[in-house]
Amino acid sequence: MGESDPEADWRDPAIADCPIYEPGRPIEEVARAHGLDPADIVKLASNENPLGPSPRAVEAIRDGLERLHDYPDGSARELRAALAGHLGLDPEEIVVGNGSNEILEMLALSYLRPGYNAVLGQYSFVVYRLATRHAKAETRMVPMPDLRHDLAAYREAIDGDTRLVFLASPDNPTGDRVDPAELLAFVEDLPPHVLFVLDEAYAEYLAEPVDLRPLLRAGRRVFCVRTFSKVYGLAGIRVGYGYGPASVVASLERVRQPFNLGIPAQRGARAALGDPDHVEATVRLNREGLAFLTRELGALGLSVRTGEANFVLVEVPSARDCFEDLQRQGVIVRPLDGYGLPHHLRVSTGTPEQNRRLVDAFRTWLQDAAGSVD
Ligand SMILES: Cc1ncc(COP(=O)(O)O)c(C=O)c1O
Repeated sequence: MGESDPEADWRDPAIADCPIYEPGRPIEEVARAHGLDPADIVKLASNENPLGPSPRAVEAIRDGLERLHDYPDGSARELRAALAGHLGLDPEEIVVGNGSNEILEMLALSYLRPGYNAVLGQYSFVVYRLATRHAKAETRMVPMPDLRHDLAAYREAIDGDTRLVFLASPDNPTGDRVDPAELLAFVEDLPPHVLFVLDEAYAEYLAEPVDLRPLLRAGRRVFCVRTFSKVYGLAGIRVGYGYGPASVVASLERVRQPFNLGIPAQRGARAALGDPDHVEATVRLNREGLAFLTRELGALGLSVRTGEANFVLVEVPSARDCFEDLQRQGVIVRPLDGYGLPHHLRVSTGTPEQNRRLVDAFRTWLQDAAGSVD
C-alpha cells in the first residue's frame, strides 16, 4: 500500500505491518480463476470436517430460525451449562467465543500490553502472533527444530514480562503434539505470572489428549481452548470455547463482545455436543484418511509427515508451485510459505473419494514435472 494508503498517517504504527490472516482459498474463487465447475472442486485446505455438520445440529439451527429477530442469550447460559456437564466443570469456568480465534484474542486483550510478551512456537498457529500484535505486546518466538515443540526452549524464552504462553497440541500447521506427562511437568514448573494456554482445536482426534483439569483443580493458571470447527463440523457458525480458572474466565468476560455467539451458533453447538456418534464417525474417517494419504502419497515417493489431527504435511520442492498446479486440477490445499515453510503443503483429510482425487492430482503433478525435465 505505502504512499497511496490514505490511512498511513493516522493508523497506529504498531499495526501498520500487522499481517492479515490468509484463509484457505474458497471453492468459488478457485472455480472462477480456473474455469472449473465448483461441484468438481475438492477443498482440503482448512481442516474442515468432510462429513459435514451433525444432522442434529442442522435440525436445531433450523428450529431456531423463527427467532432470528431476537438477540441471542448474551451469556450463552445453556451452551455453557452443556459444556460444563460434558467436561465435569462449573459453568463459571467456561467461556465461549465466536470461534476459538476470538478466545485467543480475548486472552491477548486481557493479559497483554506494550512491555509484556507472549511466548509461542516459531511455526505455531498464526493467530497467536496476530493476537499478540493486536495487543501491542512482544511476540517471543521459540525455535521449533524439525517442526517440533521444544519445551526447554519455551521455558528459556519466558521472563518476568511474559504473561501468556501459547502452545497447540496437536499443533497447526506442524501437526506436532507434546507428550502429556512432559507437558504437565512443564506447566507445573511455570512461574505464577504466566498463564499457560493450551490450544486443543484437534483434541477429539487424539487417543490420549492432555487433561488440564487436575492442574486446574490444583489451582494452576492454565487455560484450554477448543473449537466446534473441526471434529464437530461447525466451522461455518463460528463457535469455540475455553475453560480455566473462574477468575481467568471473569477477566475474559470483561472484554468479550456482547452477544458474541448468535442463536444458530448456540443452538448448533449444543446439539452437536449431544451427538457423539457423529464425532465417532468423524474420528474413524479421519484415521482411515490419514492412513490412506500417508500410504498413497508415500508410494508416489513424497515425504509425508503424519500426526493425529485431521491433516498431513507433504514436502515438495516448491509448495507454492505445487499448490498452483493442484489448484488447476481442482484440488485446493494449503501452502505454508506464509509460515516460513516454503517446502511444505498442509493437506486435510477428506472423504475416501476426495482423498483419491488428491492423490491423483499429486501423481499428475509429479508426472508433469518429470515430463518437463525430459
Ligand atoms: C490450532 C488451532 N487453533 C485455533 C483454530 C481456530 O479455530 P476456530 O476459530 O474456527 O475455532 C484453528 C483453526 O484452524 C487451529 O488450527
